[in-house]
Amino acid sequence: MARDVVILAYSGGLDTSVMVRWLQEKYNYDVITFTADLGQGEDLEAIRQKALRTGAKDAVVMDAKNLFVDYFIWPALMAGAVYENRYPLATALGRPLIAKLMVDLARERGAKAVAHGCTGKGNDQVRFDVTFQTLAPDLQIIAPVRDWKMTRDQAIEYAEKHGIPVEVKREKLFSIDQNLFGRSIEAGPLEDPWVEPPEEAFAWTVSPLKASDEPEYITIDFEQGRPVALNGQAMDGVALIQTLNRLGGKHGVGRIDHIENRLVGIKSREVYEAPAAVILHEAHRDLETLTLSKQAQRFKTFVSQEYADLIYNGLWFSAFHQDLAAFVASNQRYVTGSVRVKLYKGTATVVGRKSEYSLYHRSLATYEGKDLFDHEAAKGFIRLWGLQTQTQAQLQWLKSGRGFELPGLTRSQ
Ligand code: ARG
Repeated sequence: MARDVVILAYSGGLDTSVMVRWLQEKYNYDVITFTADLGQGEDLEAIRQKALRTGAKDAVVMDAKNLFVDYFIWPALMAGAVYENRYPLATALGRPLIAKLMVDLARERGAKAVAHGCTGKGNDQVRFDVTFQTLAPDLQIIAPVRDWKMTRDQAIEYAEKHGIPVEVKREKLFSIDQNLFGRSIEAGPLEDPWVEPPEEAFAWTVSPLKASDEPEYITIDFEQGRPVALNGQAMDGVALIQTLNRLGGKHGVGRIDHIENRLVGIKSREVYEAPAAVILHEAHRDLETLTLSKQAQRFKTFVSQEYADLIYNGLWFSAFHQDLAAFVASNQRYVTGSVRVKLYKGTATVVGRKSEYSLYHRSLATYEGKDLFDHEAAKGFIRLWGLQTQTQAQLQWLKSGRGFELPGLTRSQ
């Protein structure tokens, strides 16, 4: 009799490989592995073959880079979503997409369950499980690492006993997750927040100390908040991000060292490399200063924070997200234009911006030549602007005899 099927999120690493056997042994499931290409830069065909050799009934690999950029990365960029003002959310954006594609595959193959290799103390388990629960409440969710309590050595032993190919036996220094939008580095020496991240932690960026002495100028064009061209050349999103990762990395741009508040209540020390994300957020935010009104810009900062939190906290597939996205789409209508960024020894600095919808009106701002600003009107405006503080001072501070009650100033009448 054919067995029920589980779809396993498969990375090709030790844990998820052990899981292929474990799910058969302990749960009596046939295993179909699923691996999404989110631009992590690994040999996915090799991973697929490894899944089959390890005993998977089928192994599915899917290029999801364009989906990732168009439906996850660009919306997050347009929203200005950066968790705790530091983390551009690469991993957090990838999880709901992987989970959604697993649900699709589960439907196609009539699977009864989905499984992943997340631990019990991270955010990723939440992002996977909440997405599964929301999109497919009937599927059983299995997270073996949360339950099996194997140490790394025990997992290696299990793998060897079952003839599962184990590639890395040596102690892994860090725990890494990466995709197009960034690389996350955790654990090992980084667990001490006082210790500077060692150079071995980094793979995408050179040390700013070793970066070129020549600055490099790049231009990014945006249309309604979305990046569309680099240095004047139209480029699809995936290529644009890959190019920016390379250029930024060459100049040591995009290293982030973050003491992060996880959803599950712990603080953790997270190091990231995200050259493209850092450059794009920097440039995008700058273009907004030129094209959004003062109020729109202010309100957007609150939306950005909520947006970042909901991504981080695994609520991508939620009505609240729909609501915020509708605001962002409206808010970005005129965020069209070009930004010039200087890459130099670990920094990405915006040095120029222009837009056909720029609210910067030179004739209003200028101190020379033709000036459209109404200087007469300023006088009347200031009379009214200051009216409330003038009234309050007269009717309270002075009338009460207490004088101007401000800290650090001596009383005066
Ligand atoms: N702390 C980051 C986040 O919660 C990165 C997680 C990286 N995940 C991993 N399995 N190494 O999004």
